[in-house]
Amino acid sequence: MCGIVGFVGKQDAAPILLDGLRRLEYRGYDSAGIAVCGEEGIAIAKSRGRLQVLSDATRGGADLPGVMGIGHTRWATHGEPNDINAHPHLSRSGKIAVVHNGIIENYMELKISLLEKGYTFRSETDTEVVAQLLDYYYEGCGDFFEALNCTLNAVDGAYALGIICADYPDRIYATRKDAPLLLGYGEGENYLASDVTALIRYTRDIVYMDDGEVAVLSDKGIRLYDRMLRPMEKEHHHIDWEIDAAEKGGYAHFMLKEIMEQPRAVREATAARIQDGRIVLSDLSMTPEQIRAIRKLYIVACGSSYHVGMVGKYNLERLLRRNVEVCLASEFRYSDPIVGEGDLVIIISQSGETLDTMAALREAKKRGARILSIVNVVGSSIARESHDVLYTWAGPEIAVATTKAYSTQMAVLNLLGLYFGDVMGTVDYETYENAVRGILALPEQMETILAKKDRIREMAKLCVDHDDVFFIGRNLDYALSLEGSLKLKEISYIHSEAYASGELKHGTISLIEDGTPVIALGTYAPLFDKAMSNVVEVQARGAKLIALTTDSHAAAMAERVDAVISIPDTEAMLLPQLGVVPLQMLAYYIALERGCDIDKPRNLAKSVTVE
Ligand code: G6P
Repeated sequence: MCGIVGFVGKQDAAPILLDGLRRLEYRGYDSAGIAVCGEEGIAIAKSRGRLQVLSDATRGGADLPGVMGIGHTRWATHGEPNDINAHPHLSRSGKIAVVHNGIIENYMELKISLLEKGYTFRSETDTEVVAQLLDYYYEGCGDFFEALNCTLNAVDGAYALGIICADYPDRIYATRKDAPLLLGYGEGENYLASDVTALIRYTRDIVYMDDGEVAVLSDKGIRLYDRMLRPMEKEHHHIDWEIDAAEKGGYAHFMLKEIMEQPRAVREATAARIQDGRIVLSDLSMTPEQIRAIRKLYIVACGSSYHVGMVGKYNLERLLRRNVEVCLASEFRYSDPIVGEGDLVIIISQSGETLDTMAALREAKKRGARILSIVNVVGSSIARESHDVLYTWAGPEIAVATTKAYSTQMAVLNLLGLYFGDVMGTVDYETYENAVRGILALPEQMETILAKKDRIREMAKLCVDHDDVFFIGRNLDYALSLEGSLKLKEISYIHSEAYASGELKHGTISLIEDGTPVIALGTYAPLFDKAMSNVVEVQARGAKLIALTTDSHAAAMAERVDAVISIPDTEAMLLPQLGVVPLQMLAYYIALERGCDIDKPRNLAKSVTVE
């Protein structure tokens, strides 16, 4: 979703802004722009489409000289993606430029009042209101900081803002509420960005801004103010991952690279948390008494993280013998949820910035629940607002379609389930031991699946020319099919649906016709026979079948279906950890055959910071 960068220093800002924006491309966008403050005031360049268009139009930034500026990649919410609606937005006086991530909810009301005061608007965006409002207040009081304060008091909604004013050509103003923004400290130059990937080439010294804080950046330093606008200091974070982690490293796409990184990522998420066969969650502050006293468990998340929660429900209910409610964050937050003291809400989020998930967290916290989050991005808003955080340590995930984040979230949730089960006394020794052994074997087993990539690529051809694909499965295979189906539709644009196999005959089977591809998941051994009967059921209606099962069932399955891919046998609760890998690869190769923009699928964003 929208990306912000800012630079102030002694060298030309535009090439640095363009480079920073390039590193934020993965967040998803449909237009881009930069504003640079030079000797003749603010110059703006912006355009619809890929960043390359903007870079070509400005000769790599050379057309906008100046040592201070802001940049933006826009993911349209208010107004179509075009050159005019692209950010930065300039105020009436031409003196103030604004970039914004989020939504100003009362923009219409503010716009009407500005129109009455004689302001006119060029764009359809909510953001332009911020630029004009700043202009209005600044004209009135002549003090830019005061004008910013008045503007922030007037706007409602979510925002990360980068602002420059031609009267202060050495400063960038920044503030946030419910949208990510961080500051980068350099030598004689300072930076602003939506996330750390934009800055890692320039600095590793980072401060994460919190809601209501205001920062004023110059080449001499960064002044920070709290929400009452009193000067303040904040803890600095050192980023220790290497830039290679955010580069493609020889792979055609980030998605493929991240699929291939999964054995390492899962190893990192788990190995350090297993000592002498025991799960040690030293990053968890909950005492055994608090764990045993948990009244009810919720898992709340969006998208693929929600799908991890679906797998988690099956596993945690089995391990803990208690109800686990899995909720979509966007529904949970407005459902007047029956959650309170004694309940544990597990929040899952790769980015740690998904607005709905964040709002659900706050709602649950307000009602007295304890929040434990499973997050990838260190220092993100969700991580900071939770009582406990278990990081997934997957490294930066760049492709919009998540792969290694999903796998590591699931790995951490499984560890948590086993740990809780042990403390609660609901998991027997043998189950625990076998599961731990299974978890340690996962990276190597994943490697054997990745080695089958040519075969999976071949199988992808069976689906390439179809408009509809169905995924079916029962129990853990159903939970997994939800993710398999999402991966396929998000990157290949093929319509696909995931169905609990037993539910198919209650309606959806009418859609199966001659040649319809059905991806049948049958990895869960206790229900293998049922999976087979569902295979036969759709086959009788003409479906073309690709099946996913375990090595020990591969031969039986192969007799019935058009193509089969198998994963190594493991403990039941770990099957989705292995099963997801071929489904990700299948989606990847289908999208590749169809010539899709795999890392940046249309209309999607990596980090969804609007409702
Ligand atoms: C977006 C991404 C998905 C992701 C979802 C939740 O829709 O495209 O890949 O699963 O957001 O994101 P989170 O960062 O909270 O896990």
